[in-house]
Amino acid sequence: MGLLKEGINEVIAVTRDNAAPIGITSRNGALSMVLFKGSHTEANIRRDGWVVAHVTHDPVVWVRTAFEDLPVDAFVPVEAGGLTVQRLAACEAWAAFAATIEHETVETYFVALEPLAGEVLDPAVHPHNRGFAGIIEATVHATRYVRSRDPALKALIDHHLAIVQKCGGPREREAAALLEEYII
Ligand SMILES: Cc1cc2nc3c(=O)[nH]c(=O)nc-3n(C[C@H](O)[C@H](O)[C@H](O)COP(=O)(O)O)c2cc1C
Repeated sequence: MGLLKEGINEVIAVTRDNAAPIGITSRNGALSMVLFKGSHTEANIRRDGWVVAHVTHDPVVWVRTAFEDLPVDAFVPVEAGGLTVQRLAACEAWAAFAATIEHETVETYFVALEPLAGEVLDPAVHPHNRGFAGIIEATVHATRYVRSRDPALKALIDHHLAIVQKCGGPREREAAALLEEYII
């Protein structure tokens, strides 16, 4: 499947009625995820054995799914490899995977992925925008900051949100305002 590139692909990962930003690693043709224990994504994969990765450039979706659930009408059923899985109704592309938890550490599970099906729905291209990139960076740090309240993480969040204000459009600034609310 051509959707994912060598390295770590940041995607919106959908499991049953759940969405969260997750990194999918592609190395020498093998696809995998490392999931921190305790997430809904991990519990759902353990139960159902599938995950659907999404490409979306809507910054608000990245922030919202990192901290809370989407409404049920955000998901639509789709057939993939003989399974009925779910994808985001609004996305640019999706790819469904059979997901197997292969081993664990104290804090994480290693999940191997096998492609089932996928589709590009919107072939629009996106010039690089530092505001959008800043939302992704700030949100990664924010998911850790809400647990640790580490001031070093807050400084990183502030750094990236300043770039969002300078380089982003209205949707990136909306996402930044939402992120500020989640980390209060
Ligand atoms: C860009 C980005 C990448 C992330 N990658 C991962 C990851 O690879 N593994 C993981 O466990 N959490 C990752 N997270 C954090 C999860 O999205 C976060 O813990 C989320 O609340 C999990 O949601 P869930 O409980 O609905 O699964 C990432 C967050 C962001 C913003």
